[in-house]
Amino acid sequence: MTAIRWILLLSAFVWHSEASFRRPFEIKLQNNEYSDVLVAINKDVPEDYRIVDRLKEIFTEASQDLYVATNNRAFFKEVKILIPNTWSKKPEYLPAGTETFDRANVRVDVPNPLYGDNPYVQQKGGCGEAGDYMHLTPRYVVDKDYGVMYWGPNGKTFVHEWGHLRWGLFDEYGYDDPSGESYPHFYRASVGGVEPTRCSAKVAGYSQHMVTGAPCQLIPQTGVYEPECRFFPDFSGNRATASYMFMHFLSQVKGFCHSDPEGDPLSYHNREAPNKHNSVCGGQSAWDVMNKHQDFARGANPPREVGSTEPDFILLQQSESYRVVLVLDVSGSMQGEPIRRLVQVSRRFIRTTVVTGTSVGIVTFSADASIEHPLVRVTSQADRRGLINALPSNTGGGTCIGCGLLKGVEALESVGPPQGGIILLVSDGQENRDPRISDVIPELLRKRVIVATIAYSRDADPTLQTLALQTGGLSFFSAIRDSTALDNAFTATFEATAGGKGVKLLSEDRTMSGRETYSNQVYVDNTVGENTTFSVSWLDGRQPRVTLETPLGFVITEGDPMYDVTSDTITIEIPGTATPGKWAFNITNNGPDDQNITIIVTSNPVNDNEPIKVSAQVSAVSLDYSSSQPTALRIFASVRRGYLPVIGAVVKVLIEKPPSGQAEEITLLDNGAGADVAMNDGVYSRYFFRFSTNGRYGVSVKVDNSQGDAGYIVINRGLGAPPLDPGTGYIGGGDVQQEPLEQFQRMTTGGVFEVQGVPSGGVSTRDMLPPSRVEDLAIVEVSYADATVTLSWTALGDDFDQGGPAHYVEIRYSRHFDQLADDFHGSASVDHSQVLQGSLTSLPEPGSAMTIVILVPDRGHNVTFVFALRMCDEADNCGDPSNIVTANLEYIPEPVYTNDTLTWALVGSVLGVAVLAAVLALLYRKVWRSKFKPAKSTKVAAANDNPSYVPTV
Ligand SMILES: *[C@@H]1O[C@H](CO)[C@@H](O)[C@H](O)[C@H]1NC(C)=O
Ligand SMILES: *[C@@H]1O[C@H](CO)[C@@H](O)[C@H](O)[C@H]1NC(C)=O
Ligand SMILES: *[C@@H]1O[C@H](CO)[C@@H](O)[C@H](O)[C@H]1NC(C)=O
Ligand SMILES: *[C@@H]1O[C@H](CO)[C@@H](O)[C@H](O)[C@H]1NC(C)=O
Repeated sequence: MTAIRWILLLSAFVWHSEASFRRPFEIKLQNNEYSDVLVAINKDVPEDYRIVDRLKEIFTEASQDLYVATNNRAFFKEVKILIPNTWSKKPEYLPAGTETFDRANVRVDVPNPLYGDNPYVQQKGGCGEAGDYMHLTPRYVVDKDYGVMYWGPNGKTFVHEWGHLRWGLFDEYGYDDPSGESYPHFYRASVGGVEPTRCSAKVAGYSQHMVTGAPCQLIPQTGVYEPECRFFPDFSGNRATASYMFMHFLSQVKGFCHSDPEGDPLSYHNREAPNKHNSVCGGQSAWDVMNKHQDFARGANPPREVGSTEPDFILLQQSESYRVVLVLDVSGSMQGEPIRRLVQVSRRFIRTTVVTGTSVGIVTFSADASIEHPLVRVTSQADRRGLINALPSNTGGGTCIGCGLLKGVEALESVGPPQGGIILLVSDGQENRDPRISDVIPELLRKRVIVATIAYSRDADPTLQTLALQTGGLSFFSAIRDSTALDNAFTATFEATAGGKGVKLLSEDRTMSGRETYSNQVYVDNTVGENTTFSVSWLDGRQPRVTLETPLGFVITEGDPMYDVTSDTITIEIPGTATPGKWAFNITNNGPDDQNITIIVTSNPVNDNEPIKVSAQVSAVSLDYSSSQPTALRIFASVRRGYLPVIGAVVKVLIEKPPSGQAEEITLLDNGAGADVAMNDGVYSRYFFRFSTNGRYGVSVKVDNSQGDAGYIVINRGLGAPPLDPGTGYIGGGDVQQEPLEQFQRMTTGGVFEVQGVPSGGVSTRDMLPPSRVEDLAIVEVSYADATVTLSWTALGDDFDQGGPAHYVEIRYSRHFDQLADDFHGSASVDHSQVLQGSLTSLPEPGSAMTIVILVPDRGHNVTFVFALRMCDEADNCGDPSNIVTANLEYIPEPVYTNDTLTWALVGSVLGVAVLAAVLALLYRKVWRSKFKPAKSTKVAAANDNPSYVPTV
C-alpha cells in the first residue's frame, strides 16, 4: 500500500507562528513612550534623501497629534528608519541588525495598485487586533502639498492609520470599496431622519449629490439617499472633536470617539452609524477598544505631561550582502538518519536556494565547535561545491549549542562586523555542555546577530524558540523523519531574512512501494520560471528513475545533460526560463521494498517580476481550551502578486494533529465573513477548532489554480487623481477588472500552534461551538407598499464559519436602536409568518449569501425598525448578535430628476460602484471647481478653500 502524505510540510512546525510569517517588529510602549517603531524603505524605491527627512517631519508632527489624541498617554519616542542597501552609504547610518523590511511596522514602498498613493494599513485581524503594516508611498511622503491636499495634515493622517495598525480600529465612514465591501453613507436614525454615517454625530456638514451638487433625494427602495449622495463636512466652524477614524482632517478633530457619558459630548461615540468599526467591534467606541489594548488596559500609561514629544531617529542601513552561517549539530544523538537527512537538505539549500551574492559559511558543533567552511561569497558553482563538500558526515560526542553559536559569531566576525548576520542553527536541542544557549544570548544580542532555530526533534528545548524570538529570527520544529519540513524551515528562513526570492511550487514526502511508479504534475506559471529545479531525494534503497515531460512534449530523463544524479538526489535544473504550463513527471521506485522519497520543485521570478506568493499564519501560538468561552484559532493565507490580491484561488490547509499526525483539511475563504475580516483582499481565512488532544498542531497551505478560476483585481487608474474631466472618459479610468490568471500552484508552511486544556476525546464530540457572529448584515430593500424589509448577510456554519449550515436564524427587531442594542433577547423576534421570502430554518451552506424578506407590523411616517440577528445550531448554541441595521417604512415618492441631473446621476452611479470613496471625493472637488456652478455657493466656497478630504483607507 502506498501511503500518500500530500502534506508536505506536515511536521514543519513553527513554534512561533508569527515568527515565520513576517512577525512585525515589536513596538514597545513604556512610560507613555513608543520605542522600537520600525520604518523601512523598500529597495525598489529610488534613492531620495528627502524621504528620510520627510519621514522625520511626519513622525514629529504625528507624535504631537498622537499625544493629544491619546489624552497625553502616548507619543513616539524612538523611531528606526531602515535604509535599503540599494541606496548609497552615509557615515550616519548604523548597520542594521535584526531589522528587516518584511518586519517593518511602516513601509515606504512603491504604490499598491489597489490603493495608489492612499496611505493604508494591511489589516486582517478582527476588532482590537494589530494590523500587519502601514504602507506609505514615496510620493505621499515626499510631496507634502499633495499629501496634505488630498488626505489632510500628515500627522493626523498618520494617527488615523496608527489607529488601524496599533489598536485594531476600523473606519467610521461609509464607503464602497472596489473589492466589494460596502458600508452605507447614510442611515435612518432612530430619532428620525436620514443621518450621515459618522462619528461623532456632532460633525456638522451637508449632504448633496457628489457629481451634480443637487440636493440629495430619498430613494423609495432603500429609504435613504441615492448612492451618489455624500456628506460634506463644514470645514470652518465645525465643533466636533472626534473622530480620527472618521474625518481626521477636520481641524477641530483631535481625538477618538469615546462612550463616557460624562466625557466631551462633541466626541461621543455614535453607535448607530452602520460603519465597519461598529460592525466589527459590535458598537464599541474607539476608546472602548483602545482601553482593552495592552497600551492602556487597566490604566496603563496614565496621562503624563512631557516637555517634548519629538522622537529620536535612528538611521540604519541593511548590509550590502546577506551573510548566513549554518550552525549544524553533529553530536552523537544526530547519528544515522538525522544527520544524513540534514546533510541532504543542506546540500539542496546550498545548491538551489542560496541566491548568488550571498555569503555562506558552515560551522558544526558537538562537545565543541569548529568552522568547517569560512564565509564565502557565493558567485560560482565552484563556491557552492566547496561548501557542499564541507558539510559534515561524522557524528559523536556531547552537545554544546552555546559553543556552536559563539563559533557562528566568530565566522561572521572574520569577514566584518557581525550585526545583521544570520545564524541558522539546527539542533536536536538536548544541550549537555557549557556554555548553554542562555549563557550566550547576551553576547548575541549585543552583536545584533539574527538567530533562526530549527529544533530537529519533537522534544527539543524551548530555549531554542526563545533564542529566535529575542534575536528576531524564525523558529521551527521539524520531526527527524521529515525532509520537506526541514527543507521548508531552511527556505523560509532564507526568504524572510536573506532576501530569497524563490517560490516553492511543490514539496512532497511520499512512501512508494516496491516497483511503484508515481505520476504527478506541477504547473509553472509565467510569474516564475527562472532556474526551475526538480529535485527527488531518497535515503534508502536504489536510485529511483525520474522522467519529466515539458509542456511542449519533450521528455527529460536519465542521460539528459540536465539530469544530475548524486548518491541520494536526482536534480533536474531547467536552464533559463521554464516554459509555462503543465510539467508532468513519473518517479519509479527501482527496488522491491518501500522507499521514502522527497519531491521539491522550486522556481524563481523572471527578471524582477513579482511572482505570485503565498504566506500563511495562525492567529495564536498557544491556546488554552479550558476557558469557558469556546475557543478557536484563525488560519490566514495571503495569496498575492506583489500587493495585488489573487482572488478565486483554491486555498487548502492541512492541519496535522497530535498525537499521531492525523490530518484534517479545511478550505480557506476570502469572503469577508466568519474569520475573514475583509473580502477579496487576497487574505483567505478560516477558523479551526477540531482539536483532538493537547499538543502541537502543524499547519501547511496549498494554493491551487489548476481549475483556472483565480484572478487578480486590477484597477486601471493612475497614481493619485484619476482623469478629472467627466467628459473625457474617466469612467474607463476608474475601471475595476478581474484579470484571469493561468494555472499555478504554491505551497508553504503556516507554522505551529500549541493547544492545552482540550477535553478528553477532543472537542468535536459535543456540539458546543456556536456559529460565528454575523458582521455584514445589510438592508437591501425597503418597501412601503408591501410593508417589507429585505435583509442580507453571509451565512455562517454550524460551528463558527464551517461545518454544515447553521440550524436556524433568530432575527430580532425593535422600533428603538438602544432597546435592540442593549437588550437583544428582550426585543421582538421575527416569526415564520413574517417571512415572505427565504427561511428562518433552512439555511444555505456557510459562505453563501442569504436574503430574507420580512413583513413588518407597521409602516408610515417616522416608522423606523432596527434589526439584528444571530445564527444558532441544533444544540441552541448561538453566535453573538450581529451588527445592527435600520430601515424606515415611510412613503417616499420616486425622485424626480431634470434631464441634466439625470445624466450626471448615471455617470455618478457607474462611478459609485467602481471607485474608492477617496476618488469620488476627489472627483467631486475637481469637477465641482471646474465645471459646475455651486448650488449652495456659501458652503461650497468653504469646502474649496480647504483641503479636500479624501478619506484614508
Ligand atoms: C420619530 O420617532 C422617534 C422615536 O420613536 C421620536 O423620538 C421622534 O420625536 C419622532 N420624530 C417625529 C418627527 O415625529
Ligand atoms: C539562475 O542561474 C544562473 C546560473 O547559475 C545565475 O547566474 C542566476 O543568477 C540565477 N537566477 C536566479 C534568479 O537565481
Ligand atoms: C508517465 O507514465 C505514464 C504511464 O506509463 C505515461 O503515459 C506517461 O507518458 C509518463 N509520463 C512521463 C512524463 O514520463
Ligand atoms: C518512510 O517514512 C515513514 C513515515 O515517516 C516511516 O514510518 C517509514 O519507516 C519510512 N520507510 C522507510 C523505508 O524508510
